[in-house]
Amino acid sequence: MELMEGILTRRSIRRYQDKKIDKSVLEEIIKAAQFSPSAHNKQPWEFLIIEDKEILAELRYIQRWTSFAKDAACVVIVCGDTEKSFSRSKENEEWDFVDVDCAIATQSLMLAAWSKGIGSCYCGAAPMQSIVDALREKLQLPENIRPFAIVPLGYPDETPKHPDDRYKPEKIHWGKW
Ligand SMILES: Cc1cc2nc3c(=O)[nH]c(=O)nc-3n(C[C@H](O)[C@H](O)[C@H](O)COP(=O)(O)O)c2cc1C
Repeated sequence: MELMEGILTRRSIRRYQDKKIDKSVLEEIIKAAQFSPSAHNKQPWEFLIIEDKEILAELRYIQRWTSFAKDAACVVIVCGDTEKSFSRSKENEEWDFVDVDCAIATQSLMLAAWSKGIGSCYCGAAPMQSIVDALREKLQLPENIRPFAIVPLGYPDETPKHPDDRYKPEKIHWGKW
């Protein structure tokens, strides 16, 4: 699939066929995510792949908009390592690019999946603190590992409607606002 076509045709997929995704295909998808840009090139991402149906079904009790994850072939928890990300913690400076880096990696992952005919849906975790905490506890993640997004993956069992044109020329500001 050509890159521009992939970007324009990707849609959130929430219904999946009962079909596993080969490990080699998952590895390629994660590889694409790892080629994303990151602040100071810190590449602070980590990827936890869960296929256990019980855990997939329980995710809805942690993040209520993930009920369809139970039917996914797997879920990728995109995580950020806050010990590796580009950040500052000083008197007058408090920032961390970890979520930004993870968001970019998540988009790369979803586009790579789509290029292989695999559907996905970005389900938010960070910055919702209670969900971050609950995921960390459920999945036994170390303190420095911040669960950023829950991404169910699976071969699509739906063809979502193509959205009305999202292209809004008035949102482009040429040279001045
Ligand atoms: C930060 C973020 C959080 C999201 N969380 C959820 C979610 O919890 N559950 C869900 O079904 N979709 C979730 N979505 C998917 C959006 O609903 C979806 O991307 C949007 O409606 C546009 O549709 P499209 O992905 O098909 O283009 C999330 C998307 C983003 C970017």
